[in-house]
Amino acid sequence: MQLRVVTDQPWDVKADVLVIPIVGEPAFDGALGELDRRAGVELSTLVAFRELTGKRFATTLAASGELPAGRLLTVGAGDPATLDREAVVRIGASAERRLGGRVVRSLAIWLTPLGDGLDGDAALAAQLVARGVIEGSYDPKSIYRTAPPAADVTSPLHGDWSDISSPPRLDELILVAPGADAAELTAAAERGIVIGEGANLARDLSNRAANDVSPAVLADESRAIAERHGLWIDVIEPERATELGMGMFMAVGRGSDNPPRMIVMRAGEEGQRDTLDRHLALIGKGVCFDSGGISIKPSDRMEEMKMDKTGACTVIAAMATIARLSPGTPVLGIAAAVENMPGPHSTRPGDIVTALNGKKVDITNTDAEGRLILGDAMTWAERLGATHLVDVATLTGAVSRALGHLITGAFGAPQPFYDEVAAAGVRAGERYWQLPMIDEYRADMDSWYGDFQNSSSAEGSLVKSALFLREFATVPWVHLDIAGTGYFRKATPYAPRGATGVSHATLVELALAGAAD
Ligand code: BES
Ligand code: MN
Ligand code: ZN
Repeated sequence: MQLRVVTDQPWDVKADVLVIPIVGEPAFDGALGELDRRAGVELSTLVAFRELTGKRFATTLAASGELPAGRLLTVGAGDPATLDREAVVRIGASAERRLGGRVVRSLAIWLTPLGDGLDGDAALAAQLVARGVIEGSYDPKSIYRTAPPAADVTSPLHGDWSDISSPPRLDELILVAPGADAAELTAAAERGIVIGEGANLARDLSNRAANDVSPAVLADESRAIAERHGLWIDVIEPERATELGMGMFMAVGRGSDNPPRMIVMRAGEEGQRDTLDRHLALIGKGVCFDSGGISIKPSDRMEEMKMDKTGACTVIAAMATIARLSPGTPVLGIAAAVENMPGPHSTRPGDIVTALNGKKVDITNTDAEGRLILGDAMTWAERLGATHLVDVATLTGAVSRALGHLITGAFGAPQPFYDEVAAAGVRAGERYWQLPMIDEYRADMDSWYGDFQNSSSAEGSLVKSALFLREFATVPWVHLDIAGTGYFRKATPYAPRGATGVSHATLVELALAGAAD
């Protein structure tokens, strides 16, 4: 896809479709009035008819009258008071998704109304909208579905595969920003495209089935990515993990015929500090399938547990994106990949294992496996010189009950490092809600036999999941629980069902804060 930034007025832009963001209630003064007049008052007529509204993510396809654009697509931006970065990304994605199945080669988007919403920052609008268009083009059906008969493919622009309703593959994305600095906006939009592509890579890995993506396959994918971007990679296989003493990690993986892999990737040298004097480690939960193990899950929706590897996929993709945007920025990425299965070799409830940091853990519930593999990954990150840890995990059902699918639950200490991660989230247009680590609840996890157990009563279990992880951090650490936000059970105007790529952009922003340029 070609990217072009033009400083022409929107009524002078030639494209198959021109996207017109409607911020607040549609008002036909100024440039929107001029567009409406030249479109033969089509837009104002549709408003009077109540077809066109400014409701966020509501879309209307309209005829373009005398305009050089083939058609108009309005996308509601909603209340300007709540028009934040996340909303702008999703407006871009909604436009692209709304055109699913349509023949669109060139898509133009009028940026001005969105830039005005972002305090006049047109470059930021360009970055976020471009990222949104890329994220909106993501099509999970293309992973496995057999190609439709050739006759069903209505347009030559559908390349290798496309469903009849797939978002269009654009030849050209045109960002329309009269009076802006085209070079600055182009650079910003290119950055947005790279971030969007990274999110889509994370989604593609995450959506793939467990009979396709085993820990070994995730390691192979990581090797290919490392090679492409010049990253150092070390894949720790079971024998070495056992030798090293990764007792919690191995306990989760031992029930499966698909043996675990601790995937360690790095840009820069071992222990190398970034410009913020950090050696940042990103750590992802990579449970390729979580059956619960011997503490087996109910069958209802168990198929979703192929996406329990989403945190790892996010980290792997973020490593690629960081390397693309700022090669050489030192950062460590660890993806703890396992399959949690029941069987004669599985860990039993009541088994006591020794963690890599020496603590004795009483595994009272084999379904609380994410914290076990993350704990050893965190210790390993510190052994490799990490000074700051961020883990991303589909860790608990409790977080989605508490916060739903729109806000990621987060924990961290000390507070200044949490605040740094939260600020990266703001820059990335991703929402987090900090939850407290209530020290007194730690006693609930006391074990009669070991140092502590991996699960206890349901009361406060979300808090306790973080208290468990804290046992494995001796440096500043933040935990992001994406179990609610990592994948959608149903489609929205801006995203299909399945993995969302959430937190990828946050990790990228966080790492790039320590980049040399
Ligand atoms: N992978 C699950 C968490 C999960 C649940 C993610 C639903 C996405 C949707 C995790 O390993 C798990 O099983 N957590 C348990 C913890 C409990 C046993 C302490 C849970 O949330 O019930
Ligand atoms: Mn589980
Ligand atoms: Zn799990």
